[in-house]
Amino acid sequence: MARVTVVGSCNIDLVTRTARFPRPGEHLIATDFGTYLGGKGANQAVASSRAGAHVKMVGSVGDDDFGAHIIATLATEGIDVGRVRKDAALPTGNASIWLDERGENQILVYSGANQSLAYADATDALSDLKAGDVVLMQLEVPMPTVLESARLASSRGAIVVLNAAPAVPLEDELWRFVTVLVVNETEAAALSNGEPPVAAALALLGRGCGSVVVTLGQDGCIVATAEAVAVERISAFAPVRVVDATGAGDAFCGVLAAKMAAGSQVVEAARWGNAAGSLAVEVIGAIPSMPSKSSIERRVSQAGTKL
Ligand code: RIB
Repeated sequence: MARVTVVGSCNIDLVTRTARFPRPGEHLIATDFGTYLGGKGANQAVASSRAGAHVKMVGSVGDDDFGAHIIATLATEGIDVGRVRKDAALPTGNASIWLDERGENQILVYSGANQSLAYADATDALSDLKAGDVVLMQLEVPMPTVLESARLASSRGAIVVLNAAPAVPLEDELWRFVTVLVVNETEAAALSNGEPPVAAALALLGRGCGSVVVTLGQDGCIVATAEAVAVERISAFAPVRVVDATGAGDAFCGVLAAKMAAGSQVVEAARWGNAAGSLAVEVIGAIPSMPSKSSIERRVSQAGTKL
């Protein structure tokens, strides 16, 4: 069975909808408000699970109602939550999200209990990894936790997928433990001194990871692999309607990880990730927007793409 272990963040997303974003100093009245479960780690765990993988979540929430709600919801999704710890000192992380009527967002994250996720919290889950299992991480938890988890996963023959979001400089040592680096255009530029996507992908590949995926929103993605030092362009699946871009990248990463855990190569896995991202933007809220396996299959086949 495809197995994915996610080491990452859990947040409560406070989503305020507005016709347009306020300018600095401006006071606007919002059009709607909702509370959803989110955090890049939790979103990607749900995306992987709905895509058919057996998922373990390693994370940290506060000992509060939000934390309990996150754990219960992930468990309902069939995710193993035995390694989601409760921090007695810090509250569950949250994200204040502004969403405009084009579906664009602005996000401010308070890390809360995510800051206290340590490598020691992950070792138990990572110790029974087998070759071909996937470990999926992002950068909303401490860098030492990511680095040491990647080192251990790599030593066990696991596939390490790192979504370098939000963009922060990566430890030099980390690159060689990463099988697939996934970044969006902004993150690719931030990690490569402002290079455009193709040049950025090749520059990041040169840092030592196995392959690089740069997601381009409605333009699809590019995949650079070390085998041929070639770049593959994958065109987008047009969404029916864009209402909320939040979590689209997480849908991409979670589904890519599930496909790779099931044996797909990175290019095919990225094609499925693209289809998942195009479905996610059609639904408000991060976790609610993670698509089902059947809806991804339908979108991929509607586009006439060979599976
Ligand atoms: O990628 C989207 C996520 O980023 C949101 O769910 C929010 O919690 C932030 O972590």
